Amino acid sequence: MKPLLQLVPDDEGFAPDLHRALRQRPRTISPKYFYDEAGSALFERICELPEYYPTRTELALLQRHAPEMATLIGPGAQLVEYGAGALRKVRLLLAHLNAPHSFVPVDISGPHLLGACRTLQAEFPALALQPVIADFTRPHDLPARPALGRRIGFFPGSSIGNFAPEQALDFLRMAAQQLRGGALLIGVDLIKEPALLHAAYNDAAGVTAAFNLNILARARQELDAQIDPEGFAHSAFYNAPLQRIEMHLQSRRRQQLRLEHRVYEFEAGETLHTENSYKFSIEGFQALASKAGFKAATVWTDERDWFSLHWLQAPD
Ligand code: AVI
Repeated sequence: MKPLLQLVPDDEGFAPDLHRALRQRPRTISPKYFYDEAGSALFERICELPEYYPTRTELALLQRHAPEMATLIGPGAQLVEYGAGALRKVRLLLAHLNAPHSFVPVDISGPHLLGACRTLQAEFPALALQPVIADFTRPHDLPARPALGRRIGFFPGSSIGNFAPEQALDFLRMAAQQLRGGALLIGVDLIKEPALLHAAYNDAAGVTAAFNLNILARARQELDAQIDPEGFAHSAFYNAPLQRIEMHLQSRRRQQLRLEHRVYEFEAGETLHTENSYKFSIEGFQALASKAGFKAATVWTDERDWFSLHWLQAPD
């Protein structure tokens, strides 16, 4: 198992992106900076929370329909998982695949990815694992496609909802090209009762708050930023017209934040916007996918229509 490593350019990364975020108005940073070691562990805890329905609903859908999905994937496939994380969901598919050519998890967090790959390899000793350490939102190379089987993408968790609409379209366009002749199996969270959404991002145990605030903890630890840990509060709400949950870090008072040689002022109530989590209708998502070149085919949903998994055929 030899990972393919693709590094990000020097002008990108946490420090330059945080400076950029703090200079602009409104202040906005990419949610990808949540996921250091501590942030990834907090996200795993979010997935277990009683209020956070997406993971459990999607896992149940995968469990129920994996044999049918495996039939669609077909024999000898190369399965590419975008933003692989803990590799929990893909196990359910791998267990049903017919002689897969290889599994290619793509993730920016090298240690996390390689750790998850080692555990997976122990469970599936015959599986050819080809991890790619890269930012899957940017153009990246994949190992060669199989001579006979197809290349199939897997993008669970509704992470597509964390992109701005134009970024989501760019990502889907890139995936449609990478997966030519194959397909994409993608998890998409659905529009629902705002109270359910609100609870999912404001859990009683405060894990989502800790996950959000971890971005500041990271800035203190990695960049030696001077930020009062008590100075910001977690804020998450459903923006109904834009059909998205917004997460912010809200300044509790007027204060200064020092990052490297720069000082930034925050007014009381001012926020750093850390994440959007878009929710879709089935038709709305299919329209986006077809704009990117995919042909929408099967959709699986749960009884309450809370979450969906889409089988999208890539262009030839
Ligand atoms: C990873 N992503 C799909 C999660 C979501 O629901 O948007 C991240 C998350 N943010 C807060 N809770 C979970």
